[in-house]
Amino acid sequence: MEQRVVMVVGAGQMGAGIARVTAGAGYTVILHDVDDNIVGNGISRIEQSLSSQVQKEKISIDEKQKILSLIKGSTSIDDAGCAEMVIEAVFEEYDLKARIFSVLDEICPRETFFATNTSSIQITRLASTVKRSDRFIGIHFFNPPHIMRLVEIIPGLKTSRETIGKALLFVEKIKKESVMVKDVPGFLVNRINAALRLEAYNCLMEGVARLEDIDKALKLALGHPMGPFELADFVGLDVGLHVLQTLHNGYKDPKWRPSPLLEKLVWSGDLGCKTGKGWYDYTSGQKIPRKDVQF
Ligand code: 3HC
Repeated sequence: MEQRVVMVVGAGQMGAGIARVTAGAGYTVILHDVDDNIVGNGISRIEQSLSSQVQKEKISIDEKQKILSLIKGSTSIDDAGCAEMVIEAVFEEYDLKARIFSVLDEICPRETFFATNTSSIQITRLASTVKRSDRFIGIHFFNPPHIMRLVEIIPGLKTSRETIGKALLFVEKIKKESVMVKDVPGFLVNRINAALRLEAYNCLMEGVARLEDIDKALKLALGHPMGPFELADFVGLDVGLHVLQTLHNGYKDPKWRPSPLLEKLVWSGDLGCKTGKGWYDYTSGQKIPRKDVQF
């Protein structure tokens, strides 16, 4: 049987999660990043998550081994030459993504499809960096990719019907649900979620309630699994700030202006769970609401 190969570029939280669900559907996955440590960390992250699922009896040991055997680490972008699809999941920076796609465009055969997991940068803009904008599409996953059931499918202006069909087939294979979304800044979910998050930041700045109570309220009144501050820490405050900046630049509407409190936290290097501090302080092993970000 023909072995189908997908390259995932970027071995961080999202890239590793996407590699894992793709291998779970039987694809051979090349998980690429620029250095061995990052690739190694990505694969360890997948290993730990699979072990945790074996422990919870969600998957068998054989399934775990099968998934791991299908994931190969790589630091050579040239390995993309044998992939039928490349999914980019690097840091949310236009110039970086554009550079990677223009290199991939030279390496990959014309038939290879390109997908980006960008959180909010418009697909048509990213597609303009390659000669195959008909074979370029947004496939946007949510964190953690092996748990969240939805992906957004975002065609650019020149994305072909064939590419949309391929993306839908891929999503079906990895057993996710999809929604088709127009190519606008922030797409659908991040746009709505950013509005909610901004309002939570406004309430905090106006002293309407404490941050832990805003989180509690959204969880207990609306049934959200995480409050807006917990979720912001979980996703990463830098990622959340990028989404707001993209919405603000894209719509030119002051309603999307990033919260000054959020900017201050990002400038200080407190980016959420991944750095030990964000809206909450996790450094003691517990989740303590920060007093210094509240009025
Ligand atoms: N950090 C990292 N991983 C976490 C975590 C945390 N704070 N909390 C839970 N997890 C992981 C667990 O380790 C577990 O992984 P495993 O399957 O490998 O064992 C998995 O999540 C499920 O954990 P639990 O079984 O304990 O389930 P919970 O009931 O605690 O649910 C959750 C955890 C699924 C993360 C749930 O709280 C949730 O759904 N939160 C909302 C997540 C969400 O909204 N995601 C979308 C974010 S927006 C986005 O990604 C878009 C991007 O463009 C910004």
